[in-house]
Amino acid sequence: DWTMAAFRETEIRRIREQVGQGRVICGLSGGVDSAVTAVLVHEAVGEQLTCVFVDTGLMRQGEAEEVVGLFRDHYNIPLVHVEAEDQFMTALAGVTDPEQKRKAIGKLFIDVFEAEAKKVGGADFLAQGTLYPDVIESVSFSGGPSVTIKSHHNVGGLPERMNMKLVEPLRELFKDEVRRLGRELGLPEGFVGRHPFPGPGLAIRIPGEVSKDRADTLRKADAIYLDEIRKAGFYDEIWQAFAVLLPVQTVGVMGDERTYDHVLALRAVTSTDGMTADFFQFPHDFLAQTATRIINEVRGVNRVVYDVTSKPPGTIEWE
Ligand code: XMP
Repeated sequence: DWTMAAFRETEIRRIREQVGQGRVICGLSGGVDSAVTAVLVHEAVGEQLTCVFVDTGLMRQGEAEEVVGLFRDHYNIPLVHVEAEDQFMTALAGVTDPEQKRKAIGKLFIDVFEAEAKKVGGADFLAQGTLYPDVIESVSFSGGPSVTIKSHHNVGGLPERMNMKLVEPLRELFKDEVRRLGRELGLPEGFVGRHPFPGPGLAIRIPGEVSKDRADTLRKADAIYLDEIRKAGFYDEIWQAFAVLLPVQTVGVMGDERTYDHVLALRAVTSTDGMTADFFQFPHDFLAQTATRIINEVRGVNRVVYDVTSKPPGTIEWE
C-alpha cells in the first residue's frame, strides 16, 4: 500500500519535528486509532514515548488483556497499566447527563495522564488517535449549523487547563485509512478489523447513572452479543455492534418467578466512516437466539430489544 507507506514516512518526520527532544504520553483505549497512533509515535520518537493503558472499568470484556498483550508481546513497546476503576466510578457517581459524563471522563483521563507524566519526569505532549470525522462532528454536523452533537473526549472534551500539547497524526484520516495504516505498521489483522470503541467507553452505553454493577452487567451481555455475531459470521459486515443497558426495569417471568429487571438494547450498524449509518438487518432467528442467550446468562436483564434507527436521525451511540 504505497499511499500508506508514504503517509507513514511523512508523519514520522512531522512527529519528530513537532516533538523534538520532548516527552510524549499516549493513552491506549483498546481501539484501533489509539493503537495505530502509539505505534506510529513510537517509530518516530522511540523511548521518548510512554504508552499508558488506563483500566477505567468501562472497557469491553478481555480488552485490557488484549491491549497489554499486543504492546508488550507483539511490539515490545513498554506500557504502563493504570488501575483506575474506583476513580472513574467515583467521578461518575450521580452523573446522568450525557455531556457531563463525557466531560467528567475526559477530565479524569487528563488527571491520570498528568500523574503518569510526572512519574517519567513530565511530558510535553499528549498523543491521541483523533480522526477526521471526530474533528468535524465536534464542530458541526454534516455541513449543518455549528452545534456540538457530542464532545468527543479526544477533541472537544479536554479541559482547557491541560498543560500538554496535542500530537494527532491521524487527524486527516478516515477509519478505513487508519486500518490500512495499521496493516502497514504490522498490526495483527484481528486487531485492525475491530469495531470502533468510543473513548468514554461503556459509560455512554449506560444511560442514566453508571455503576460498577451496571458496567459488569453490560460487559457480560455485550460479550455474548459479539460472540454470537462472530459465530454467525456477521462481524466484518458490521461497522459497530454493541449493547446498551437501559435504566428501565420491566416485569418478566422466569420459571414460575416474577422478575423485575433491566431492558437491554442491541445496536448494530453498517457505515463507511461513522458519519452516517444504517441499522444492520439481522435475520430474526439470530436476534431471537441472541436475546434468549443473554436473558438466560446475564443476571439483571429480562428483556432485549433491537434498535432500528439509522444515522441520522439517530447517532450510533446512545449518548
Ligand atoms: P456517534 O454516536 O456520534 O458516533 O454517531 C460516531 C462514531 O464515533 C464514536 N464515538 C467516539 N469515539 N471518542 C471517540 O474516540 C468519543 O468520545 C466518541 N463518541 C462517539 C462512536 O463509537 C462511533 O463510532
